[in-house]
Amino acid sequence: MNPVNAPLCLTIVISTISSGVAGNLVANKGIEAGMEREIELGERAAMYSANRLKLGLFGANCSSGRAVTMLPERWSGSWPDCLRLAQMADDAGIEFMLPIGRWKGYGGDTDYQGATLETMTWACGLLASTRRLTVFGTVHAPLISPLIAAKEFVTADHIGEGRFGLNVVCGWNEGEFEMFGATLGDHKTRYEYAQEWLDVIKLAWSPKEDFDFAGRFIMVKKGRAKPKPYGGSRPLIMNAGASPTGQAFAIRNSDALFSNVSSSTTLDQTGQHIKSVQALAEQQGRRLDVYTVGVVTCRPTAREAEDYWHHSIVDNADWRAVDNILAMRNITPETHGVDEFQRLRNHQANGMGGLPLVGAPDTIALKISELAAVGLTGIAVSFVNYLDELPYFCAEVLPRLARLGLREK
Ligand SMILES: Cc1cc2nc3c(=O)[nH]c(=O)nc-3n(C[C@H](O)[C@H](O)[C@H](O)COP(=O)(O)O)c2cc1C
Repeated sequence: MNPVNAPLCLTIVISTISSGVAGNLVANKGIEAGMEREIELGERAAMYSANRLKLGLFGANCSSGRAVTMLPERWSGSWPDCLRLAQMADDAGIEFMLPIGRWKGYGGDTDYQGATLETMTWACGLLASTRRLTVFGTVHAPLISPLIAAKEFVTADHIGEGRFGLNVVCGWNEGEFEMFGATLGDHKTRYEYAQEWLDVIKLAWSPKEDFDFAGRFIMVKKGRAKPKPYGGSRPLIMNAGASPTGQAFAIRNSDALFSNVSSSTTLDQTGQHIKSVQALAEQQGRRLDVYTVGVVTCRPTAREAEDYWHHSIVDNADWRAVDNILAMRNITPETHGVDEFQRLRNHQANGMGGLPLVGAPDTIALKISELAAVGLTGIAVSFVNYLDELPYFCAEVLPRLARLGLREK
């Protein structure tokens, strides 16, 4: 199947299936009779869109989203708001939504990211209520049995008819792991565990009827998992490993690597990074798309955008929450020096470290197009208030990206 033709086919099938009781009957019959539409992995990786540059929304399942701000209009993260946002994004042709797997907030005046919707159940709800959007679940490998996880992923994948994606994370926050009675373990071991976990998941997804697995951490005897993922391929897998170990894991296992690009990274450096990870993936016979994360403040003029950015994440930043986040990573003036600490503090308040995209629509479109020109496949963006700000972004930035040849509309 040619990915370019995919959106049309998928829309037709899904519009039948998502229309109430009759639709459910069709879907059930599909599972029992194995009649679901065949989907190639390439179509999933293209997120059913022919757009050269993919766009997603990041962090909407958490209170405050990504902006560490005290502004009253900060993101609620509530289910009604997430649902409205997903449907708005779906209608606008945004390709994906990526949630954050967060179990405990960061305190401060707002209890930043203190209220979070669990990402798998969130993804299922959104997949059932949208037609085109790819929705990721963000799952901490050490916190859930791989066989339970594999079945959850398949369930979400059937609900979304092939639009579910998996973000595998290994965890870094000691306080979160404590709540589960789990120990974080050292960084390298976390990724070794995640490798076995993902191997078991792939076995559960494979056409094999029964399987055994004997690893260092995980044992499976006479494993069985049915149904298999929707349409004969498997969910899209992403990872955001940044360390050499994390990146090697992403290159070995994932279809998409999310890498942070900061304002001090040059376009040349970003291009080099993309080329080098893609070359390593190719050596292993794999295709790897590279994405990044952006924090958008888009207003009619540069002045208005800069003023709002300053108002939200400088004048009204939740600095106590920022300092808590940094302390968890052992970043203090003592460990990093006063100047570097201040730089990291500002960076963190902006949206947990995403690339600031602040300006008028022309500037935002230009900055995104420059990233695409050096090889970036897509960007997951966040706003202070996604529902208030997405319409303007879609009305003004998307047509500019289309004129730059990066999107169809
Ligand atoms: C786009 C993106 C999404 C991420 N999502 C989560 C998440 O939801 N939960 C989490 O604990 N870590 C998350 N992380 C952290 C990464 O999984 C990873 O641990 C981090 O980039 C550090 O890399 P390392 O594990 O190789 O040291 C995310 C990072 C990025 C860039």
